[in-house]
Amino acid sequence: MQELQQILDDALRSFAATDDAAELENAKARYLGKEGSLTGLLKGLGKLSAEERPAAGARINQVKQQIEAALQARREVIQQQALNAKLAGEALDVTLPGRGTGAGGLHPVTRTLERIETLFHSIGYAVAEGPEIENDFYNFTALNIPEDHPARAMHDTFYIDGQHVLRTHTSPIQIRYMQAHVEQHRHLETMPDIRIIAPGRVYRVDSDATHSPMFHQVEGLWVGERVSFADLKGVIADFLQNYFETEDMQVRFRPSFFPFTEPSAEMDMSWKGGWLEIGGCGMVHPNVLKHVGIDSEKYIGFAFGMGVERLAMLRYGVNDLRLFFESDVQFLKQFN
Ligand code: FA5
Ligand code: MG
Repeated sequence: MQELQQILDDALRSFAATDDAAELENAKARYLGKEGSLTGLLKGLGKLSAEERPAAGARINQVKQQIEAALQARREVIQQQALNAKLAGEALDVTLPGRGTGAGGLHPVTRTLERIETLFHSIGYAVAEGPEIENDFYNFTALNIPEDHPARAMHDTFYIDGQHVLRTHTSPIQIRYMQAHVEQHRHLETMPDIRIIAPGRVYRVDSDATHSPMFHQVEGLWVGERVSFADLKGVIADFLQNYFETEDMQVRFRPSFFPFTEPSAEMDMSWKGGWLEIGGCGMVHPNVLKHVGIDSEKYIGFAFGMGVERLAMLRYGVNDLRLFFESDVQFLKQFN
């Protein structure tokens, strides 16, 4: 049977020609499937005479077995090839050293905040907090900031709505703390001193190497019967000496203006051949004390607000403040 030999040759050739499992099954269908050529021949057996049928049937079956065997052999080859390719793709170099689990660490700004809190705690300051979403009254009005002050402008401050802002400084905590303190000691002849620092996040429409839209300040406030500008300078100088662990610092107090202090100054530290402002300070303005119901004839105080990232930059020698907020592990790792 010429035809049978032809079918066998074709089948073996097409099986050998493919490396693809699906293609192999398609080839199988061409010979052994319902419409396959070999199946066609088997169906044709019925037309043969009773004498011819057994011999023809046996030959067809023999070829069918050969095709099935070749198919199975090719399936196994293709499966093995696929497995080899998968193993090669997932190869592990077991001789490489393990990665281990890296220890986490504190963010440099967090470390700086903790350091500041520890230093002020050691000279008797408590830590106060306040909300990051403030209303206009605490952020501006109670701090004696007039309606037309530039800080109130939309291009400087993030407004939540007409009345609420993301606080632009930690100074509103002064107001909240003084109000609560007055309330708590209303029954006393003489109010005990207020001595707090208030660290926290603040927000401004600002961004360059020394300004970030979100940054941290630490507010300081001491109110009592006998607090002077000399105390202010002493506390700050003492803090900076301890913070930087040196007495040899380039710091200057520069006369300045804040609506909530009088007189006011800004503090600068030497940086890259010039000066970097680290904070503002001054004697609490009598209007601010009046706003919270403190007798400004009897009590006096000082306040300051320092930029925490600026202190971190100076201590760690970082030249762009925005690096603190890029979450680059390579950068952050250096501080642990
Ligand atoms: C104030 O915010 C005043 N509330 C400080 C103050 C408190 C004065 C109490 C008097 C009494 P000023 O806007 O200068 O002041 O900000 C204080 C410090 O925050 C700056 O000196 C600087 O160190 C830091 N700072 C200001 N803007 C940014 C910013 N965008 N990114 C990082 N740090 C900033
Ligand atoms: Mg300033």
